Amino acid sequence: MDQQEYTRRRRELMNLMGENAVAVLAAAPERPRNRDVEHPYRQDSDFHYLTGFPEPEAVLVLIPGREQGETILFCRERDPDKEVWDGPRAGQDGACERYGADDAFPVDDIDDILPGMLEGKDRLYCTMGLNPDFDQAILGWVNQVRTRARSGARAPGEFVALEHPLHEMRLIKSLAELEQMRAAAQVSAEAHRRAMGVCHPGMPEYALEAEFQYVFRRNNGWQAYPPIVGGGRNGCILHYIDNSATLQDGDLVLIDAGVEIDCYASDITRTFPVNGRFSAEQRAVYEIVLAAQEAAIAAVRPGNHWNMPHEAALRVLVQGLMDLGLLQGEVDALIEDEAYRPFFMHRTGHWLGMDVHDVGDYRIDGEWRLLEPGMVLTIEPGLYIADSIPEVDPRWRNIGVRIEDDVAVTADGQDILSAGVPKTVAEIEAAMAGD
Ligand code: GLY
Ligand code: MN
Ligand code: MN
Repeated sequence: MDQQEYTRRRRELMNLMGENAVAVLAAAPERPRNRDVEHPYRQDSDFHYLTGFPEPEAVLVLIPGREQGETILFCRERDPDKEVWDGPRAGQDGACERYGADDAFPVDDIDDILPGMLEGKDRLYCTMGLNPDFDQAILGWVNQVRTRARSGARAPGEFVALEHPLHEMRLIKSLAELEQMRAAAQVSAEAHRRAMGVCHPGMPEYALEAEFQYVFRRNNGWQAYPPIVGGGRNGCILHYIDNSATLQDGDLVLIDAGVEIDCYASDITRTFPVNGRFSAEQRAVYEIVLAAQEAAIAAVRPGNHWNMPHEAALRVLVQGLMDLGLLQGEVDALIEDEAYRPFFMHRTGHWLGMDVHDVGDYRIDGEWRLLEPGMVLTIEPGLYIADSIPEVDPRWRNIGVRIEDDVAVTADGQDILSAGVPKTVAEIEAAMAGD
């Protein structure tokens, strides 16, 4: 992402903030994994969206109209001793030269400098409740201004949720973001194709997972979320990440895995037979989920509301469950009564972007929001016939199927960013046979 894109985002946010306001947001903290070991560092999505700045211990302050510069970055100072261990830091010069800050200060001096920047402002935009230490720090800076009230200092009178304007911006992706998301989706697509090529009975689930990690790292990415690789019964466990069982001849395997590249996520699920050939029962269930996914994708278009793809998928799934003899009654009544829930207990998708479950409201004033060009969502219907569901003919047991793609709303319809992974029964069987 080039600097102009970050500058444009900050400008847009400051326009939305209006006069005499200030926004303050923090970089993600480093998080311990276990003694002396930290999780790989991942910048906070909002912070990254506005700066591209990759370091922890940083605070961004935006002050529209400030004469000495509107974008202020507090960050770590250069430190040759520490840089021997942890690598180079941008420092204040780097913050200005490479990350578009107008002004930069050492983060260790923030308590002395930031309160003065809040003074006299009407509104303070910040994100409360995500990072308790930072919430406390903000209150401390505001209180510092309040203690100077008798000398005429005035603290901001209004605290405004920064996420409202910022997350509305993040929900609509720019052309550059769409291309970055397509690039990530295509790396995930390559990994799913690779998995279909190498899968065989007797393989451990984690060995199949390793094929994904290999492709992700080869493309300078990381998993956007822990991959789910579930054979047979494990495919019916929605958040199965153990990935420790052995894949069995005759079972399906459900793989939900996507890469994140430069802080943009992808999220793809495919389900296929471990031995390369669907049984009649597996095929019957699979065809229903595929038809539901196709119906839902067709409902992704500007002017349709958020819930229409879900409603389209649900109708196909419920009719399919009736055709299989797993539900009896009328489609409308079964939907109304949520009789399908033992077999389909999640929604058909979510916003996708820098976060895999991305930000953005799903309703506006109580109504499902309309889809607009630049929004990206997943379409991921499924059916899970776990052996714990009573009164199911045993031949359907432990068939779990989900099919998930990443879909952008375009001016006149939709664009599947994750296209190119075999999806029909014929395509999957051909790919697994090496055709
Ligand atoms: N992989 C997370 C999801 O599908 O929502
Ligand atoms: Mn998803
Ligand atoms: Mn997924």
